Amino acid sequence: MAELGFDGQVAIVTGAGGGLGKEHALLLAARGARVVVNDIGGSVHGEGSDLGPAETVAAQIRDAGGEAVADGHSVATPEGGEAIVDTALGAFGRVDIVVNNAGILRDKAFHNLTPELLDPVIDVHLKGAFHVTRPAWVKMREQGYGRVVNTSSNSGILGNFGQSNYGAAKMGLVGFTRVLAAEGARYNIKVNAIAPLARTRMTEELLGAAADKLDPALVSPVVAYLAHESVPVSGEVYTVGGGRVARFFIGMTRGFTSPALRVEDVRDHFSEIRDETGYSVPAGPGDELKALLDALGGTGE
Ligand SMILES: NC(=O)c1ccc[n+]([C@@H]2O[C@H](COP(=O)([O-])OP(=O)(O)OC[C@H]3O[C@@H](n4cnc5c(N)ncnc54)[C@H](O)[C@@H]3O)[C@@H](O)[C@H]2O)c1
Repeated sequence: MAELGFDGQVAIVTGAGGGLGKEHALLLAARGARVVVNDIGGSVHGEGSDLGPAETVAAQIRDAGGEAVADGHSVATPEGGEAIVDTALGAFGRVDIVVNNAGILRDKAFHNLTPELLDPVIDVHLKGAFHVTRPAWVKMREQGYGRVVNTSSNSGILGNFGQSNYGAAKMGLVGFTRVLAAEGARYNIKVNAIAPLARTRMTEELLGAAADKLDPALVSPVVAYLAHESVPVSGEVYTVGGGRVARFFIGMTRGFTSPALRVEDVRDHFSEIRDETGYSVPAGPGDELKALLDALGGTGE
């Protein structure tokens, strides 16, 4: 089978001055994409700015024979998002792929979580994906083609101590991914997410002995596949680390139904409510409503 390529396509990778984003940018460029290497170049906590890291990665791509431009705008404002997409349009005339990867950390146990620890994390991870994707989306709809890859995290999907701000933003991106998948379907725009595990400056103190096995370059093949024309899915979430890739999904148990549900029924049937035997994976709200109507007496046909 032929190798997967991106000739003629333009990709924006946010937060691509280092860590995972750098690897995504290098791989997409090596496979023929023209790449906007966006990065504000700040600290892991979101302080400061420096165009240097983005310029270094863009130069590395050009030195290897690829095409790339550096961009230092912040994803965290609508103006920044517009400017990043304008960089792609100005340099390359189109945009086919957006990889929302930029991120910061401001961890703190919830009882100590101040607005200064909350707002920037939501602004970069969650709102940042809105700000960059929306102007690109307008172009994607017009051209009837687009691929968006969002970066979620097990911190939100599974819940990690001390990361209510980050976890909420990251789970918010799952909702963003699923809604955009529904909206993009008729325009051949596919939107998926990854929940990566990799050794970067963001995780160097957290991963311990596992860090050796979690090369960030082993995450990028999944990003590239989800960004490729041939990807068969939309609205899905994949956990990726160290060369392993698996799917996270939202399942629904068969549950318990009583047309006269009382609080004691909930107590008495709680293990049945929670029982994972025969669970389903609703593709959308319509599937859930059908299952509900079926449970209420076969009126979902
Ligand atoms: N490394 C992991 O194991 C892991 C796990 C789960 C999720 N993630 C997510 O993966 C993504 C990449 O993280 P990483 O581990 O490579 O860390 P990283 O700190 O190396 O990369 C994040 C990059 O985003 C950039 N950035 C921050 N704020 C920005 C802004 N406002 N505008 C533009 N760029 C900005 C930073 O300068 C940095 O280069 C993040 O979204 C992170 O939350 C990483």
